[in-house]
Amino acid sequence: MPKLSIVVGTMYGGALDVAEQVKPLFETAGYDVDIFEQPSLEDLQACELALFCISTTGSGDFPGNIVPFVRRLRDESPALSTLRYGVIALGDSSYGDTFCGAGRALDALLEELGAERLGERLEVDAMETFMADDAAVPWVEQWIDEQALTVA
Ligand SMILES: Cc1cc2nc3c(=O)[nH]c(=O)nc-3n(C[C@H](O)[C@H](O)[C@H](O)COP(=O)(O)O)c2cc1C
Repeated sequence: MPKLSIVVGTMYGGALDVAEQVKPLFETAGYDVDIFEQPSLEDLQACELALFCISTTGSGDFPGNIVPFVRRLRDESPALSTLRYGVIALGDSSYGDTFCGAGRALDALLEELGAERLGERLEVDAMETFMADDAAVPWVEQWIDEQALTVA
């Protein structure tokens, strides 16, 4: 069974909740799914498909649980050319310019390292969507379908 890693960056649990809600959708699509709150580079390199559920804190900053992982990506610049990924960024548009800053920054970093994003990034705005899962679940269903991610 192919492996899918869901990498979570969260302060208050919303992004983790999204990861837990979408996990069964990927299992139904044929994946062996792991959720990582303290991911290592090795966890990422062991899979070909990953979903990043990343909220933003501070002023466009990464949540603390994901900071060591992002630091390693920046410091070690691993080649990620076999990785395909999606991004669900959680934020709040009342923060203006730093809206979804962490999700956007991680997306840019992954692209720089040679990974390929499948489809567009989902940005969930807490000003509009109270429960992020309400936006994330249909988005993942559509993502699996449009990107033909179901495996036999
Ligand atoms: C102290 C604090 C700072 C925040 N800073 C930002 C920000 O700079 N940009 C943004 O888009 N959202 C920001 N947010 C909003 C959160 O990203 C948003 O509420 C998100 O849904 C929280 O997800 P979580 O439950 O996974 O931590 C901030 C929230 C808090 C409490």
